[in-house]
Amino acid sequence: MLFNYFLIVFLLLLCIILFCNIILQKAERTAGAEKKDKDKILIKEADRESYLKDIKKRKEFLKTLKYKYLREIMYPNVIDDNIKSMLNTQLKNYEDSEITKTSIIQHTENFTKPYLDIKGFPKQYNIIVTQEHLTNTIIVDYFQEKCRFICKRKEEKDTFLQWFEKAKTLIIKTALKFASGDITYKTIYNYTKIVSHGQLLPYYSCTEFVPDIALAVFMFFDNYGIRIRRILDMSAGRGSRMVGAIIWNKMVNGGCTYLGVDPDPCSHKYYNEMRDYICSKLNINPEAFQVINSEFEKDFTHLLPSPEIKEKSGKNETKPGFFNEEIDWKKIGLKEEIAAGDVVNDYDIMFSSPPYFDLEVYVPPGTEGAEKQSIVGSDCDSWVNNFIIVSMRKTSNMLRDGGVLAMNIENSQREDAVHYMEKILDAAKDIETLKFRGCITFNNKRYDGTLSNIFHPIWIWQKHV
Ligand SMILES: C[S@@+](CC[C@H](N)C(=O)[O-])C[C@H]1O[C@@H](n2cnc3c(N)ncnc32)[C@H](O)[C@@H]1O
Repeated sequence: MLFNYFLIVFLLLLCIILFCNIILQKAERTAGAEKKDKDKILIKEADRESYLKDIKKRKEFLKTLKYKYLREIMYPNVIDDNIKSMLNTQLKNYEDSEITKTSIIQHTENFTKPYLDIKGFPKQYNIIVTQEHLTNTIIVDYFQEKCRFICKRKEEKDTFLQWFEKAKTLIIKTALKFASGDITYKTIYNYTKIVSHGQLLPYYSCTEFVPDIALAVFMFFDNYGIRIRRILDMSAGRGSRMVGAIIWNKMVNGGCTYLGVDPDPCSHKYYNEMRDYICSKLNINPEAFQVINSEFEKDFTHLLPSPEIKEKSGKNETKPGFFNEEIDWKKIGLKEEIAAGDVVNDYDIMFSSPPYFDLEVYVPPGTEGAEKQSIVGSDCDSWVNNFIIVSMRKTSNMLRDGGVLAMNIENSQREDAVHYMEKILDAAKDIETLKFRGCITFNNKRYDGTLSNIFHPIWIWQKHV
């Protein structure tokens, strides 16, 4: 009797499990179908030949072809593997002192041999950026591609979208010739990259800072004894360093905060979306990572809604949700008094890649916020003194003793460009609280596994100890 009873319960449970499984599988199938649907077939594989041969047909098709951003054709889960790969990063993946010994930092006189002079640290350090690291920029591009394409390099006369209109005939021809399967928006996305990097119709779009480099920098300093938890970024760009900070936070089991500052209105539309997605994947409270919409060299304390700061500035322009009184700071590993935005002198590092003077125009002249860009109304000397040096002074006030100012900035490789790097290094000598410690570098591994001979510097100063 008892056996029968258990048998019935067992069978019932089995039915429930089977039923749930069927429902789950169906849900997954529907989600899968949705994911596929976002990317559209434009030319079926079977029609490929006729499109290649028939100019009229191709012209008709090209008339309506528009560039689709990654977020229009994919779901955010396209970045999940990139997040995972960043989490698996180890410092030794980056280290290669042999290479820096012979490296030459492009276009910066007197720096043929980069070195780092901090007690206990390696004298030479180069971050090798592999192709895998480079693909992780997709984490940022997924959310910010639009803003990267609003930005225009000075030497390009067209915006990216104008270039696409001119290049789309070549893009579709190349795709029809070389891509396998149906031609979808994703194929166009990939072949747009291939054509822009090619010789026939090259286009230099604004670059994206590799989030892995930021992560490597935080790991490097922390590993050799400068604890990195409070991170400041004078020019947040499109958010690569914030991504590095979030991953770093996960690696050290919480307690990191990131405060970025940037006046580009476009990027601000997407920072929180990007941050919230990554934080939700890693189960991290996103409030500890913030970007303020301001010029770094100006006073932005009134935008920081810590109660103490509000009182001091007497202004009440708080960003809703920025300082959420209900957050249990202890739970996310923060003391209440060191929430992300507080301007207290205890940042461990200021790491940034500010504009390379006029190399890239982030906000088109005449549009909202353009006047806040650091280069507006500046010649090279006034830009060095009124933006870079003022920002470095400000940073030194915000760092704790022993904290690091790390800045990736270099002279433009353009023949006609003004060389400002020497001016920066020279003028920074007058900042009494900062001691120049030399530099570390990063360079890219090419597709064929060889290393590029362009070494990019990250200049290091330390708040004197
Ligand atoms: C995108 S980053 C530079 C990227 C870098 N060259 C790279 O690709 O590695 C430069 C950022 O500086 C920001 N910027 C311009 N003027 C600024 C200012 N006054 N204060 C802070 N950030 C500023 C721009 O809006 C831009 O987002």
